[in-house]
Amino acid sequence: MYKILFVCLGNICRSPAAENIMNQHLAEAGLDGSIYCDSAGTSGYHIGAPPDRRMAASLQQRGYPVTGRARQFEWADFREFDLILAMDRENQRDILSLDSTGRYHSKVKLFCDYAQNHRETEVPDPYYGGPEGFEKVITLLEDGCQTLVEELKNKLSTESQP
Ligand code: 4NP
Repeated sequence: MYKILFVCLGNICRSPAAENIMNQHLAEAGLDGSIYCDSAGTSGYHIGAPPDRRMAASLQQRGYPVTGRARQFEWADFREFDLILAMDRENQRDILSLDSTGRYHSKVKLFCDYAQNHRETEVPDPYYGGPEGFEKVITLLEDGCQTLVEELKNKLSTESQP
């Protein structure tokens, strides 16, 4: 099973939204049995908390489920996951700094590398802003998840060829 981990700072806004949106897109593409998604935060500020209620409301309004409890990124995640997608550069730096050997660095990418229809290079932190910030995050995440699903479809069909 191919495993993807979405990572932000608190694991209550951006990364749980990415996980839920991606799971929905995977289910629609019939790939939910082949790809496993999870999310984590680089900080331990909100361990055990459900997604932020403003993020949850925006997700529900767009028809996405809202699941998950915050957890902190841990070293074992480097081995466990095939692809680790950081929401912003600070998250990416913090993850990379935990792997001093550099052995897993190639697994750690910026989510926005996949958001083809946007100029943003980072998913902006919506925590201290208004509701439009949460909407913006969802739109960016939908864009990136769509590309990711297409890439995964191609990858799985190539791998299944004799
Ligand atoms: P997230 O958003 O990283 O997208 O989950 C934040 C959540 C909490 C805080 C900052 C950003 N905080 O400072 O507590």
